[in-house]
Amino acid sequence: MQIALINGPNLNLLGKRRPDVYGSNSLDDIVNSVARRANDWKLTVWSYQSNGEGELVSAIQEAAKNCSGIIINPAAYSHTSIAIRDALEASELPAIEVHISNVFAREPFRHHSVISAVARGVIVGLGAKGYVLAVDALGHILGRTQ
Ligand code: DQA
Repeated sequence: MQIALINGPNLNLLGKRRPDVYGSNSLDDIVNSVARRANDWKLTVWSYQSNGEGELVSAIQEAAKNCSGIIINPAAYSHTSIAIRDALEASELPAIEVHISNVFAREPFRHHSVISAVARGVIVGLGAKGYVLAVDALGHILGRTQ
């Protein structure tokens, strides 16, 4: 069984971009830690990052065909993208929305996510560890054992 790990714009810069906010882990570090945790649940991971909204919509549609759940950090598109929201809803997959930073402690425009209503759950402000916790959430939701 496979899960998708989808990351949105600027997350390719993790480790270099605002380490005070987003930490020192690179996206590769995060992908590796997600894959390791997924392996404990006998899950494989399909990972995708894009800076483009349409590409992210296509990736979600791809995940709907090949995966049983989604971990997604839509980054800035969380606050604006009805297209990504609609794609997630159409996928009918359990999705865990992850934000590395505590968006509620930041600028008001980050306080609302248009994605959250179609996510099964949301993990906010726990750093890179949030992605690993999202794997555990999906493992439970998908009825897997470790
Ligand atoms: C983010 C929070 C967003 O507001 C921001 O635009 C990002 C990253 C996070 O992981 O904390 O790019 O999704």
